[in-house]
Amino acid sequence: MAGKTSTAGDGFIAGRRTAARLLGWYDAHHRDLPWRVAPARMAAGARPDPYRVWLSEVMLQQTTVEAVKPYFARFLARWPTVAALAAADADDVMKAWAGLGYYSRARNLKKCADAVAERHGGRFPDTEAALRELPGIGAYTAAAVAAIAFGRPAAVVDGNVERVVSRLFAIDAPLPAAKARIRAHVEAMLPPERPGDFAQAMMDLGATLCSPKRPKCMLCPVSEDCAALAGGDPELYPVKAPKPEKPLRRGAAFVAVRRDGAVLLRKRPATGLLAGMAEPPTSGWNARQDGATGPEAAPFAAAWRPAGAIRHVFTHFELSLTVWRAVGLDMRAPEGWWWSPPAGLAGEALPTVMKKAIEAAIPGATRHRAIREAGA
Ligand code: ADE
Repeated sequence: MAGKTSTAGDGFIAGRRTAARLLGWYDAHHRDLPWRVAPARMAAGARPDPYRVWLSEVMLQQTTVEAVKPYFARFLARWPTVAALAAADADDVMKAWAGLGYYSRARNLKKCADAVAERHGGRFPDTEAALRELPGIGAYTAAAVAAIAFGRPAAVVDGNVERVVSRLFAIDAPLPAAKARIRAHVEAMLPPERPGDFAQAMMDLGATLCSPKRPKCMLCPVSEDCAALAGGDPELYPVKAPKPEKPLRRGAAFVAVRRDGAVLLRKRPATGLLAGMAEPPTSGWNARQDGATGPEAAPFAAAWRPAGAIRHVFTHFELSLTVWRAVGLDMRAPEGWWWSPPAGLAGEALPTVMKKAIEAAIPGATRHRAIREAGA
């Protein structure tokens, strides 16, 4: 029994030593990110703004740092506090989110801001448990905000952390079965005096050195502690379970263009995929069912001409949309639909799949804002 206790103790000390090495590396090599307070400033007593931490964590789910940066800057410029976001119009928030994907995040973002304003007087609660009570805040986001914004000893486990830890400990079970073991290792390593920096150090290591392919183990601060490297092939981890193939769904999109170049749009239903976002009319495809692909599915009679096809990959399926275009129209928009003038199209709450469909019919139509910003 004595041997067993000693082994557990050794594991604990080894874990803390790994964390200390990682934090030393983070002090020197951390990424400068707009929502982050650098470790030297943290040491001087500065603390991150919980609103920025929360906003960035929601945006960063399933989205790269580079894609998030311009959205983060625009959101902060327009809504500098959670109270300002709570006072915003929900449609404006959806429009500002357009292009980032996973739109339920934007709807929940607004609901969460409303709840923080109403239930907490505009200040985020500072414990993992209270954060979890807020709309759209799951286990990951609660832990990340608690650790990074409030210095709580919460285990922050995202995809990067899962990769780093499954390599450090050569965890041989595939995800998601390995999740509980990974979490236990993170909890054992967690340095109580710097939980937020530790979480961000793990993320930075995963994003910069401990990459899925060709990890840069020569530069890794914890390579000596890495069981996967000792085994000779870190890329074997995390162990992968066979992936089910994504089904292909089909449908059609109808890009109607008025004489002045305006494009006919409508709002998608309030529930389901891409709920509440704008779209050119489409045949009734959804996550479970194909829609029609031919011009017979058009919402009204017009000289519909083929304009190619686009593909878009969603989480659970891939969608192929046949695009039809009719030009030179001169009609009223049906009830609840609207004609979006060429200069306004880039500001509509169009998800990427719908931008692709419009671009197939009218190249460049949705890119005016991007061009303006690039030139600004
Ligand atoms: N990915 C998710 N959260 C992050 C953070 N706080 N820093 C860097 N990358 C992240």
